[in-house]
Amino acid sequence: MGLPLAVEFARAGFVTTGVDLDARKIDTLNRGESYIPDVPTADVAQFHQAGRLRATTDPSVIASFDTINICVPTPLRKTKDPDLSYVVSAVEMIAKHLQPGQLVVLESTTYPGTTDEVVKPILERGGLVAGRDFFLAFSPERVDPGNQTWTTKNVPKVVGGTTPDCTRLATLLYSASIDRVVEVSSPKVAEMVKLLENTFRAVNIGLVNELALMCDRLGISVWEVVDAAATKPFGFMPFYPGPGLGGHCIPIDPFYLSWKVKEVGFEARFIELAGHVNGAMPHHVVDKIADALNSRSKSVRNSKILILGIAYKRDIDDIRESPALDVMAVLKQRGGQLSYHDPYAPHLAARDWPAGVDMASVPLTTQALAAADCVVIITDHKTFNHQEILTHAPLIVDTRNALKGSWPHVFKLGAP
Ligand SMILES: NC(=O)c1ccc[n+]([C@@H]2O[C@H](COP(=O)([O-])OP(=O)(O)OC[C@H]3O[C@@H](n4cnc5c(N)ncnc54)[C@H](O)[C@@H]3O)[C@@H](O)[C@H]2O)c1
Repeated sequence: MGLPLAVEFARAGFVTTGVDLDARKIDTLNRGESYIPDVPTADVAQFHQAGRLRATTDPSVIASFDTINICVPTPLRKTKDPDLSYVVSAVEMIAKHLQPGQLVVLESTTYPGTTDEVVKPILERGGLVAGRDFFLAFSPERVDPGNQTWTTKNVPKVVGGTTPDCTRLATLLYSASIDRVVEVSSPKVAEMVKLLENTFRAVNIGLVNELALMCDRLGISVWEVVDAAATKPFGFMPFYPGPGLGGHCIPIDPFYLSWKVKEVGFEARFIELAGHVNGAMPHHVVDKIADALNSRSKSVRNSKILILGIAYKRDIDDIRESPALDVMAVLKQRGGQLSYHDPYAPHLAARDWPAGVDMASVPLTTQALAAADCVVIITDHKTFNHQEILTHAPLIVDTRNALKGSWPHVFKLGAP
């Protein structure tokens, strides 16, 4: 999230510096290259050459900046409690170099209260006061990786400062490079806005995933139902079922909110329920695969299962929290002989998934399709040739309704 923002600042004419602990990213940027598909290398090269985009691992440069945006990870611990360690260490690093007049904006998704209760006290340790000596605000990242229509530049930026001056200054910064800025009354409100947005998605995906399971039992296609319901011009918004949630946001962020409200004796029931339903989807996919193999008098054990797409969504290279990894781990545990193809994820490192073995993407050939006992579409990248899959794979489980229509050898999630 930091790089797309840095590029927009550089485009607007600011002299922008990326500070990261990861020396490989820094070296890549300093060679004038991008390291994520959403940011073209041409942009990085242009701004790097013009001296408006630099990168360093040296935090002491922080003292020379007018503004500092924090875009570090906010994962969950295994217990599903927020892990603010990255935020805390980044803020401690900034605190050491904080200068009067600087603006600090937290962008990492987090629970309401983080900016005022966690970030502010650390920054004020040296004696400078937020709103008086330096400026502090929260402004959530809203980028949708892989989305060509809605980008960092044209997605409105919500901003809430610790004081009205803090909000105003952050608004001035963003308005130079982002089309629209929406001011709210406090960092807490801005933090909650982001959690509402992501909880809205998690809950609606949970609802439609549950509907898919109902449709499975009732012999109805959930895909046909959602598409027909989506013709209603008001009061309905289509969400589609799938193999489970993935990425750094939707499976994680709502639990920041449910954790926080526990402090005030409140139980966030929708969030927990959606978490249960969405978290169980990979197991339903495995059941579907077992059913499909069963129809051919085969078991998961010793069957050759080819997984198509392991990224958490279409046309991106991010495998964090991807449901494909859960599906694969369960299949492996049950003795399936796994292979996968994903043009965006050529390697799957042992440390990145529960089964803990290194794997490499196999080429998607007609022979590979024909040799599999079951081909499973988990993530329907645009590069997949549906006709070829339909023609050569003897048995298919399609979790995304990638293959429109129905065939005797295709088993779909949420459809007869
Ligand atoms: N990826 C998304 O789609 C998305 C969308 C909206 C919001 N967000 C939120 O944005 C935040 C960042 O997500 P991301 O996907 O960009 O994460 P990321 O892991 O891709 O990038 C974070 C970077 O921070 C660096 N870092 C960690 N600690 C540091 C420190 N102390 N000092 C300097 N650098 C440090 C890491 O090395 C890494 O390069 C998270 O809170 C996430 O929830 C992400």
